[in-house]
Amino acid sequence: MRLVRTIPELREALAKERQAGSIGLVPTMGYLHQGHLSLVEASRAQNRFTVMSIFVNPTQFGPSEDFARYPRDLERDCAMAEAAGVDLLFHPEAAEMYPAGYRSYVTVEGLSERLCGRFRPGHFRGVATVVSKLFHLVQPQRAYFGQKDAQQVAVLRKMVRDLNFDLEIVVCPTVREPDGLALSSRNVYLSPAERQAATVLSRALFWAKDRVQEGEREAAVLLAGMRRMLEAEPLCRLEYLEIVDAENLEPLTHLGGDVLIALAAHFGKTRLIDNVLLEGV
Ligand code: PAJ
Repeated sequence: MRLVRTIPELREALAKERQAGSIGLVPTMGYLHQGHLSLVEASRAQNRFTVMSIFVNPTQFGPSEDFARYPRDLERDCAMAEAAGVDLLFHPEAAEMYPAGYRSYVTVEGLSERLCGRFRPGHFRGVATVVSKLFHLVQPQRAYFGQKDAQQVAVLRKMVRDLNFDLEIVVCPTVREPDGLALSSRNVYLSPAERQAATVLSRALFWAKDRVQEGEREAAVLLAGMRRMLEAEPLCRLEYLEIVDAENLEPLTHLGGDVLIALAAHFGKTRLIDNVLLEGV
């Protein structure tokens, strides 16, 4: 595996690979876990060459968010990426991606303001900006993202369509701990009690999924049941819980089509998100 930190080096390394076959891109912010590695596995199965980026992107963090304390461990990440079969790891400094005087941003209107966007203004503008830069730099045939960040997927799919990026977005299922908690780099922040309490998120989502499979179609019934479960956990401070259309993220009252049940909650200082996607309801 080659580690590259500058844009000229990245361009040079990829020029040759681009002639030889398809390139898959796995964008991450590092502190890797099995969720990230599942994206690498998918990319390796579909492409000749896999690029992973590790960049804690400052533009997607709000002023009072966890940019400074976001977990970082490059040495461990390098070992994990190499063992997973990443061919090239791109790890730029912030000034490489955003040199002094940087002024250009990508905004996907509408979708970016829903769900998490209501509580993280500017977040998806930062995500869309850095991902579009990575798409231009790497020019992959395919780029891999996790269903865990369902709104990110919806925003980036729209960006790719609207701005005519010539690549395929591949979405991989959420990888979970045995007790249901979705893997996240932020899980390391949780105290043992919070870690235990956080299982309520997937329990509530899976409960709703079961009800839908049994035939329930009224959003109000599902939301009330999930709220009851979430409110019964004293360490869980719910930020939002919504049932929306998976593509346009508009709230649904009656379930139909591809449905996303998404939530965000705080456990102490840690904000977690999770969702279930119900296709073809
Ligand atoms: P990060 O949170 O590091 O996640 C990188 C990729 O891993 C994302 O596509 C995310 O959805 C996926 N992922 C995270 N946890 C997962 C899990 N439990 N199962 C499956 N996939 C999972 O998302 C970002 O970074 C950034 O916003 C980024 C796209 C890199 C732009 O800065």
